[in-house]
Amino acid sequence: MLKGLLFDLDGVLTNSAKFHLTAWNNLAKELGITLTDAQLDSLRGISRMDSLNLILQYGGQEDKYSEAEKEKFAAEKNAKFVEQVETMTPKDILPGIPELLADAKKQNLKMVIASASKNAPKILTRLGIMDEFDGIVDPASLHHGKPDPEIYIKAQEIAGLKADEVISFEDAKAGVEAIKAAGQFAVGIGDKELLKEADYIVPTTADLKLSKIEAVFEEK
Ligand code: G6P
Ligand code: MG
Repeated sequence: MLKGLLFDLDGVLTNSAKFHLTAWNNLAKELGITLTDAQLDSLRGISRMDSLNLILQYGGQEDKYSEAEKEKFAAEKNAKFVEQVETMTPKDILPGIPELLADAKKQNLKMVIASASKNAPKILTRLGIMDEFDGIVDPASLHHGKPDPEIYIKAQEIAGLKADEVISFEDAKAGVEAIKAAGQFAVGIGDKELLKEADYIVPTTADLKLSKIEAVFEEK
């Protein structure tokens, strides 16, 4: 029986994913690295340092910088990202999400955030939906990033639920892989081909309807 929903944040509840990708793309350019669209997209859901390392690897610069230099680049990128976050308002909640959260509340479902972002509390506060959730996984407590299932297992524990009692929402390939590795039901938001491992896929958040998803979940 469905008892809870676990949510990624960036690209699911709000479009902050685009701010992340723009900030990374700009940093890559400064480092003389041109990223393809697919390379840029592969950064979705990936932690801050893992994203930077991936960019350097794409550019063949994986051994070029010291840890201290890399920390500086990551801090620069984060400062640019936070500037964008400061402009966010409740209007930046993605279409379909308010209805989804309201439907979940009516059913008394537990709701937990499973975002790798250290900025998640700040973003949720800007959106005015911090109090909607029963908990947030602290990304500082994680040993492995998505696609490792750790974050979704932790979120499920915070909700106090079992893997077959939750539905988890993701826009990232690495995130869908993490959900499936945790043994949970995955809803993928975005490209059908990229997110094909998900149990239920919609092109955009506006297409999310809890009763429809739940019908497929109950069948599994
Ligand atoms: C989320 C985003 C990633 C981001 C990561 C870390 O998973 O999808 O794009 O790199 O969080 O975010 P942070 O705000 O801590 O740099
Ligand atoms: Mg995401």
